[in-house]
Amino acid sequence: MNVQATKPLNTRLETLLRGMPKTELHIHIEGSLEPELIFALAKRNQVTLPFKDVDSLRAAYDFKDLQSFLDIYYAGASVLLEEEDFYDMTWAYLKRAHSEGVVYAEIFFDPQTHTHRGVAVSTVIEGIDRACQHAKTTLGIESALIMCFLRHLDEDDALKTLQEALPFLDRLIGVGLDSSELGHPPEKFERVFAKARALGLKAVAHAGEEGPAAYIWGALKALGAERIDHGVQCVQDDQLLAELKRTRVPLTVCPLSNVKLCVYDNLSQHPIKKLLDMGLCVMVNSDDPAYFGGYINDNYIELFKALDMNEDDAIALAACSIEAAFVPQSKKDLWLGQLQAFHQSLT
Ligand code: HPA
Ligand code: ZN
Repeated sequence: MNVQATKPLNTRLETLLRGMPKTELHIHIEGSLEPELIFALAKRNQVTLPFKDVDSLRAAYDFKDLQSFLDIYYAGASVLLEEEDFYDMTWAYLKRAHSEGVVYAEIFFDPQTHTHRGVAVSTVIEGIDRACQHAKTTLGIESALIMCFLRHLDEDDALKTLQEALPFLDRLIGVGLDSSELGHPPEKFERVFAKARALGLKAVAHAGEEGPAAYIWGALKALGAERIDHGVQCVQDDQLLAELKRTRVPLTVCPLSNVKLCVYDNLSQHPIKKLLDMGLCVMVNSDDPAYFGGYINDNYIELFKALDMNEDDAIALAACSIEAAFVPQSKKDLWLGQLQAFHQSLT
């Protein structure tokens, strides 16, 4: 990663960023699998990996684009077989997120990555959900699940996946769309998203990460997306910027991911501050923290160093992260109050 020379943050701003109550709305749980856990699960499940040890796996995290990352990400996920594996992975993430001030996470998971290897969807959802429940009762962090369809596969496969997940509908808050973006426009998944929305699920979609602004329009119009994941390519289209400002459809931005996957050469080129100043609802997320060099607070801190952002920006981003969550307004008001109280408590 080409991280430019940046100046250190003042202590007060760093304390604010690290401790402020915030949500995380763009986290692929399979992307939170650290190399150490990958190797531990490989041993437990007798899976052979194409890497000799943790260090050689980490050394392969040198991506040139989204696809080069996805190839390794799917290899890493191949160690997940039993409910306990999904539990361990999710618990590790939630513990870490809680320690970083995250009060609520909407967690993406990719069932097709597992069902195509013979793992039942019940194994996936029950393992992840059990960790979410345990984290709520023991740590207080809340969470919800978003089931993503892999866009490099066809829509019939997504429809089949939705059908298989019907018994677990009460564990899901929404559906999403991820994997290889270029060549797989949102319109390809219009029917499955219509069906999911008719079942009462929220719709989100990755769009405008590597793909064009037209894919963001497609996610809004064809899929009824209520949030756009990444969405940074909206800067190419003034009309779209005006629409996102008017509707406040949020963009779940992932700064370190964008640099690691070569969308930008370094964080000083990142448009998030520009988007925030234009009045769009944007916030910071980690995407695949085990692969992209940091969890949510690493993303906030590196970004603030690179873009010379201030306390008002920090509060605005955290407030957007709360506004964009799929929770009742009463809950948002509670967290916004906690955010303000935390800010005022700083000396
Ligand atoms: N983009 C698309 N698909 C993904 C990503 C991403 O950043 N991470 C995991 N699946
Ligand atoms: Zn993502």
